[in-house]
Amino acid sequence: MTDLDMRTPGALADAERWTAHNYHPLPVVISDAEGAWVTDVDGKRYLDFLAGYSALNFGHRHPGLIAAAHAQLDRLTLTSRAFVHDQFAEFCQRLAALCDKELVLPMNTGAEAVETGIKVARKWGYQVKGVPDGQAEIIVAADNFHGRTTTIISFSTDADARNEFGPYTPGFKIVPYGDRDALAAAITPNTVAVLLEPIQGEAGVLVPPAGYFAGVRELCTENNVLFIADEIQSGLGRTGKSFAIEHEGVVPDMYLLGKALGGGIVPVSAVAANKDVLGVLKPGEHGSTFGGNPLACAVGTAVVKLLETGEFQQRSAELGARLHEGLNALIGRGVLAVRGRGLWAGVDIDPQLMTGRQAVERLAARGVLAKDTHGSTIRLAPPLTVTEADLDHALAQLAAIL
Ligand SMILES: Cc1ncc(COP(=O)(O)O)c(C=O)c1O
Repeated sequence: MTDLDMRTPGALADAERWTAHNYHPLPVVISDAEGAWVTDVDGKRYLDFLAGYSALNFGHRHPGLIAAAHAQLDRLTLTSRAFVHDQFAEFCQRLAALCDKELVLPMNTGAEAVETGIKVARKWGYQVKGVPDGQAEIIVAADNFHGRTTTIISFSTDADARNEFGPYTPGFKIVPYGDRDALAAAITPNTVAVLLEPIQGEAGVLVPPAGYFAGVRELCTENNVLFIADEIQSGLGRTGKSFAIEHEGVVPDMYLLGKALGGGIVPVSAVAANKDVLGVLKPGEHGSTFGGNPLACAVGTAVVKLLETGEFQQRSAELGARLHEGLNALIGRGVLAVRGRGLWAGVDIDPQLMTGRQAVERLAARGVLAKDTHGSTIRLAPPLTVTEADLDHALAQLAAIL
């Protein structure tokens, strides 16, 4: 194919022409995908080592998930929650069981699950803990990423995410991530919740010091504060367990889930907690037109069934060990540090060699798609269905660009 025959440049220009520039995508226009591989409009194949920021934990077009979606498309797609549909109960029951919680509240995007968690925690604070109305405080960590709504960016420490989107929602305190003493000092009688990512993805796949979450759990229990784990990116098999917080031997009061819950097909998110927490919501106080719709529930049920087997968690643990072994071997050879768990890694490239953006551009040229984050860090998160050979291939490409 000559350069003149290529469809990518025109497709890129069209995409730029008609959209707000709120992303800076790599110059790749994808048209087809299967498993861990995607194909662009010119027929070039790439290994997908971002996997939709973990929304594609089960790979592109997982046959079981696609079959569940097809079957549901032929029967019923939407009712709104004004009526009950026959896919709802099974999804909620299975997801609650996976989380070992009593109740589930389905939404659509991750940010909506976070918003729901915040609202529930505040309501719980007023009704159950007895915090004076309007005084509830929620403690979050510096360098967090929980989504893009006006309330959520109000407690972001990322200038790009936050600046010039004010006025900001009050009621949040920010403490350093991984610092138990700072958290202890920030808790007041009005604290209703501590909201944390078990591993900070956007910040560069940061794993906090061992014992941190045990300390968080202890402080929350002692002070009658809810511990909310944002497992939207870290959960559902990504780290080698159903939830990343399991590695810490800690149980949160509330799980926030999203991304992979929709099987890479539809946006599905959820909050899971016990009755004493989620039970504070009464009819009319919270909802969503699309949350818990029949198609979402059918796909979500199929996702939970995949996780019930434990197969994907195990794959992630085993292949994750191989990934981290391969990455650690590059330390001192262009890589400064590697973090993460399971099939999830943050890789600090030596900034003297290249930026993170240059690294992912060079990887893309070699047929591997990944995402940079701050500075010279790149994130690797292939589908949990990736093969050993594909993993080794991607590692070889990384070694080659270094
Ligand atoms: C930890 C975490 N929470 C929340 C979100 C927001 O999810 P969504 O983009 O679906 O709103 C993300 C997205 O990257 C995330 O990584």
